[in-house]
Amino acid sequence: MSGNYAVEARNLIKVYKSGELEVQALRGLSVTVASGEMVALIGPSGSGKSTLLNILGGLDRATAGSISVMGSDLTQMNASQLVEFRRTTVGHVFQNMNLISTLTAAENVELPMAALGVKRQERRKRMEELIGVVGLKDRMDHKPGELSGGEQQRIALAAALANDPPLVLADEPTGELDTENAMIVVNYLAKVNKELGKTIIMVTHDPRVARAAGRILRIQDGVITTDVAPSEEAAPTQTSYTDMLKARIANIDGQLVNLDAEFRKGLITSDQFVERQTNLKKTREVLGEELHRLGVVH
Ligand SMILES: Nc1ncnc2c1ncn2[C@@H]1O[C@H](COP(=O)(O)OP(=O)(O)OP(=O)(O)O)[C@@H](O)[C@H]1O
Ligand SMILES: [Mg+2]
Repeated sequence: MSGNYAVEARNLIKVYKSGELEVQALRGLSVTVASGEMVALIGPSGSGKSTLLNILGGLDRATAGSISVMGSDLTQMNASQLVEFRRTTVGHVFQNMNLISTLTAAENVELPMAALGVKRQERRKRMEELIGVVGLKDRMDHKPGELSGGEQQRIALAAALANDPPLVLADEPTGELDTENAMIVVNYLAKVNKELGKTIIMVTHDPRVARAAGRILRIQDGVITTDVAPSEEAAPTQTSYTDMLKARIANIDGQLVNLDAEFRKGLITSDQFVERQTNLKKTREVLGEELHRLGVVH
C-alpha cells in the first residue's frame, strides 16, 4: 500500500455474529481518501456507515480485507498498538455523549492530553488555542450542561483535536442539532480541514451538511455506490420521489436560514421577511405532509 493516502481500504468485509444470527455490514467495500480531504459519508440507515468509521478509527476490526490508515496497516496491529493508534492518529466526534458533564469545557479539551502525560502548562496553552479555533474562548469555564448543543459539539471537536491527530472521524456530529447549529458545526469542521490540514471523514444524513465536504460517498448495503463532488450530488439525479421531496425540504430549510441571516443583516424589511418565511414554511409543510403520507419519517 502506498503512503500517499490517509485511508486505503480494499475489499473490507464485516460480519457481525450474535448467536445464530449473522449480519454482513460491509460487503467488499473499497475506498481511498487522500491526505487533507474532507469526505462526507451518506446512505440509508443500516448501510454500514458507522461500521466503516469504527473500523477506520481502530474501534473495531474488519472480518476480512485490508486497511491502511495514515500509512499504518490496521490488520497487522495487536491490541496495544491499536490503543496507541486511537490515541495519536484519530480524533473522534460522535453524535452525542462526547463530553464529560462534570468537567468544564476547558477540562474536557485537556483530558485527552492528560491521558498522554502532557504537562499542565502545555495542556493549558494548547487547550486555549483549540477552543479559540472553534470560537468559544468565552465559554471555556462552562460545563457541558451550560452550553448549547452546537457549542458542545464544537468543544467536542476541540477535544478530538487535542493530541493533534491527522485524521478526524465524525459520526453524525450534527445529528441532534437544528439546521442553523448544524451548519455552524460543519463550518468549523471545514475550517479545521482547510486551516489545520486535517483529513476529515464525517457521516451525515443531512444533504446540506454533506455539501460542506469536498467529496460525497454514498454507502448502500455495505459498499460504496456513488462517489461524487457536491455539485454533482446537487444535480437532479434523485433516485426516487421521496429523495426528491427530502432534497426540496432540505433546500427550503437552507433558504429559511439564509432568510434569517438576510433579515438580521437588515437586507430585507420585516414585511418581506414575514411574507417570504410564510411562503417557504407553507411549501415545506406541504412537502412534509406528502412525505408523511408516503410513510417516511422526516
Ligand atoms: N454490534 C453489532 N452487532 C450486530 N449487528 C450490528 C452491530 N453493529 C451494527 N450492526 C448491523 O450492521 C449493519 C450496519 O450498521 P451500521 O451501524 O454501520 O449502519 P449505519 O449506516 O451507521 O446506520 P445509521 O444511519 O442508522 O446510523 C446494520 O444492519 C446493523 O444492524
Ligand atoms: Mg450509524
